[in-house]
Amino acid sequence: MTSYRPDALIASDISAYLQLHQNKSLLRFITCGSVDDGKSTLIGRLLYDSKMIFEDQLASLEADSKRVGTQGGEIDFALLVDGLAAEREQGITIDVAYRFFATEKRKFIVADTPGHEQYTRNMVTGASTADLAVILIDARKGVLTQTRRHSYLSHLLGIRHIVLAVNKMDLIGYDQAAYDAIVADYRVFAESIGITAFTPIPISGFKGDNITGPSANTPWYAGPALLEHLETVALDADADAARPFRLPVQWVNRPNLDFRGFAGMIASGSVKPGDKVRILPSGQTTQVARIVGFGGDRAEAVAGESVMITLADEVDCSRGDVIATADAPPQVADQFQATIVWMDQAEMLPGRAYWLKLGTQTVSATVQPPRHAICVNTMAELSVKTLGLNDIGVAEVYTDRGIAFEAYADSKDLGGFILIDKATNATVAAGMLNFSLRRAQNVHWQAVEINREAHARQKHQAPRLLWFTGLSGSGKSTIANMVEKRLHAIGKHSFLLDGDNVRHGLNKDLGFTDADRIENIRRVGEVAKLMTDAGLIVLTAFISPFRAERELVRAMLPEGEFFEIFVDTSLEVAEARDVKGLYKKARDGQIAHFTGISSPYEAPERPEIRVDTTKETPEEAAERIVETIMGTWSPVI
Ligand code: ADX
Repeated sequence: MTSYRPDALIASDISAYLQLHQNKSLLRFITCGSVDDGKSTLIGRLLYDSKMIFEDQLASLEADSKRVGTQGGEIDFALLVDGLAAEREQGITIDVAYRFFATEKRKFIVADTPGHEQYTRNMVTGASTADLAVILIDARKGVLTQTRRHSYLSHLLGIRHIVLAVNKMDLIGYDQAAYDAIVADYRVFAESIGITAFTPIPISGFKGDNITGPSANTPWYAGPALLEHLETVALDADADAARPFRLPVQWVNRPNLDFRGFAGMIASGSVKPGDKVRILPSGQTTQVARIVGFGGDRAEAVAGESVMITLADEVDCSRGDVIATADAPPQVADQFQATIVWMDQAEMLPGRAYWLKLGTQTVSATVQPPRHAICVNTMAELSVKTLGLNDIGVAEVYTDRGIAFEAYADSKDLGGFILIDKATNATVAAGMLNFSLRRAQNVHWQAVEINREAHARQKHQAPRLLWFTGLSGSGKSTIANMVEKRLHAIGKHSFLLDGDNVRHGLNKDLGFTDADRIENIRRVGEVAKLMTDAGLIVLTAFISPFRAERELVRAMLPEGEFFEIFVDTSLEVAEARDVKGLYKKARDGQIAHFTGISSPYEAPERPEIRVDTTKETPEEAAERIVETIMGTWSPVI
């Protein structure tokens, strides 16, 4: 590296300095390792040797060196490192510390992420935008558990360049054999997790060996010094520019009826006026009319630039859509396999709806129970039911509508997403889409000729879903049975789905945790809906303790078809009856998560029908329910 004194250039020719700076490429990288591995020393060395120390740090260094009466470089350097180490100890470890420095050739942003396992989410945050990772190893210790964890996370987050910095070479006497053994050891592990190439460098952050230039202490090493490698390694931005054009639309500018500009940052590829483009997810095609820049129209724009384009036709295109090359557009899907890093204290709830934000698109999404979690230390696949803080797992994700996406391995912009809790607005997870599920691409809704109206007309009835809800032993099944008998007697076509029965077949894989109950009701809702499509009057008798899922089923059906029937029997009464002897068992602690005792029941706020079993016999209630339903009969049928 040529010695570079920006301060001198700033003083003599500020505009030359700015010009030089603006045209330099930017490399973002992450350093992984603990303070013990010499991470602070290494970062300090990079900042110090590149002469781009923050001005206040420079000033304090100068003051300190004057005070101790020396101009020695080693002392300045030591003070800087102490400062960095102190900064880390004072809590910087909780977040990701970003530092900026530059050399003559490039600008750098280094994300200094803490090394411990409890900071996995911090490392994921830093790694998600990095082009390169420096994995630090203490030459005296070799490949450790944390080396494997850092490498795995870096690879998982799609970092294309890995540097294995074998540090503290001075402390092992620059021993080539020891270095070679560490590199060979690491190679076996790296290959096992899919890292096909990495750059090993023997360094001493403290002594400065192989940091900015070749070290006389390692004549056996012919590769680049660390900073040389950082200055020349290929950038993600260049790779992105070579891929097909994608512009996630950030906002639409419509100052008047004659102008509609679509603005955003180009995620990949390049664009010119006249290019054929496709709008996703709708699939409409048109052409790019203009690329509008600050200084007038532009002939071309490339990945990484923020632009505004106009289109030749009046197509529908709004925030969240993706404008892409017409002949190589991204896929659109609503079911995916994803790798998820959970970042919240509260566990993931499979089946609950979260906001999923991918690029500029925000949709509602549910995560299925994880296929497995991954142990970040051993990479073993663990069988789990959910994900907790810092857990990493693979699960299916369903969105409520199609979104334009690419696999994370191809595009961080269109494959990386976050999940947001709808109630608290907290970011609860980061994820990477691996692929869309085949079934989502190949299963299209089939328009049937004998539709639900035809089915219902043939049966001379209107479809209904009579949703009985209430505590166990409240009388749901008893009343539902009587209602069905009456309907049958007057020639109506019906079907009763009962909790205890469905749990023997369709839902025999489900228990009574919150997540299982959510899934129980979702499945029953879907089945009941299909049965109403067949023109039936469907009765369901499930505790269905959560309001959210009862409302979910209501929303599946056309307005007016869903009847929530609250069998309002108090816990005392249900428990006193204890028809199945389950309350006694629950009180004795033999049944966990028992509704009303160790699991909640959220009573309906405005049910269509409420039954008080202490004031009405089951027969009376059934009679009243049938009358109410018949009263809502459409006169046409
Ligand atoms: S729901 O909560 O998921 O809607 P569902 O109606 O299917 O429950 O099943 C409830 C029936 O399962 C009860 O009537 C009772 O017979 C039985 N059961 C067994 N364990 C439990 C439990 N922990 N909580 C409630 N019901 C239980």
